[in-house]
Amino acid sequence: MRNDNFFVVKKPWSEVKDELLGCYFKPYVSKILHTYRPLVYVDCFAGKGKFEDGNPGSPLIALDILQECTSSTTMEKTEIKTYFIDLNYAEDLRQNLATYPNVEIISGCYETEIINILAGENKSNVFLYIDPYGIKALHCSLFDYFAQYGFNTIELLINFNSFGFIREACRVFGLAYDVTNVFDDLVEYESTQLDTSQNSLLELNEIAGGNYWQEIINDYKRKVINGYEAEALFVEAYCKRLRQSYRYVLNLPLRIKKGQRPKYRMIHATNHRDGCLLMVDNICNRWQALQGIQNRGQLTLWEESPDNLSIDESDISQKILAHIPNYREWTSLHDVLSDFFVEYGAICSTTAAKAVVANLVSLNRIELERDPPFTETGRAATYMTEGRNKKVSIKWVP
Ligand SMILES: C[S@@+](CC[C@H](N)C(=O)[O-])C[C@H]1O[C@@H](n2cnc3c(N)ncnc32)[C@H](O)[C@@H]1O
Repeated sequence: MRNDNFFVVKKPWSEVKDELLGCYFKPYVSKILHTYRPLVYVDCFAGKGKFEDGNPGSPLIALDILQECTSSTTMEKTEIKTYFIDLNYAEDLRQNLATYPNVEIISGCYETEIINILAGENKSNVFLYIDPYGIKALHCSLFDYFAQYGFNTIELLINFNSFGFIREACRVFGLAYDVTNVFDDLVEYESTQLDTSQNSLLELNEIAGGNYWQEIINDYKRKVINGYEAEALFVEAYCKRLRQSYRYVLNLPLRIKKGQRPKYRMIHATNHRDGCLLMVDNICNRWQALQGIQNRGQLTLWEESPDNLSIDESDISQKILAHIPNYREWTSLHDVLSDFFVEYGAICSTTAAKAVVANLVSLNRIELERDPPFTETGRAATYMTEGRNKKVSIKWVP
């Protein structure tokens, strides 16, 4: 099934996904070029490049950003390789991306092509955008492999249809899933269909990276938890599993309507602390744009906006206070914050979190040290952002 309908009109779902990609990718490229290492960008499920209504697909969005960044960078030389894989639409990609330089289009399966593409790139910064229709191609062993390969840096942005996983897990256990209505307004293309065979069970183990999901489905079967709880528990366990290979895994829930449960998740995984913080800030900065797209399509990304009082400073402060006692030794502020966002999600900007930390320092709940402690003019330094020659460390005051 080729699902040509998907590319007729760009739906709000696709816009939200692409906005997330775009808002992160631009600052990511600007930063990563300064590592003086090559950048390898792979759109693993690239589609046609462009929708028939003229809207750009993920390939055009990324290529335009790359052009913009390379034309405005102060770097003398940049080395960027881009790959676009699609099983069905390589010809459309060739036509739609014809005017861009250094583009490689691959007709085939991501699962089989990706290892060859990345072979020998161990000095590079690698970014993989993974936006499949279903869950079948999301092999966890490949994600582990990428993390161990030894790239300079590696980042994954994955569209993970977690409800699709739970529905298939129920099918494999011969159960009906009681929250099928979550799919009513989310058209699913090429949804994965498994059965009660041992092979299907092994396939889900491979996607999940273990059999931990089976206990969740058993709890659902015994009515200890409902279908929504099963999805939430599964995603939590899945992110924990990804953390065996990637230190920073951000779970970005996508909701259809305010107050509703998430429909599916975008997952950002990296071993790079600053990549995690950059993702948090760019989501917060692009909040209005994301809200706008979602409101048109009646979608809401999170329960509350960063400005909404329900996630206000005292809430953030409480969460930070719950998190800080983990740090009894001096620890880099950026390390503490990235761990915080992995735990609680992108609930506020790094600036807002730092303001809360500064306040807790003034209340003697946290100790803070700067290196160097003084400005060039000899005044006490006040910076809260770490850089090559600036270090901020904090620790809990028991
Ligand atoms: C959700 S669409 C991608 C949309 C694209 N990210 C965009 O914004 O335009 C998924 C694409 O994956 C392709 N596809 C399906 N199975 C694949 C596989 N195993 N490897 C690579 N591409 C695949 C489909 O042809 C389809 O174009």
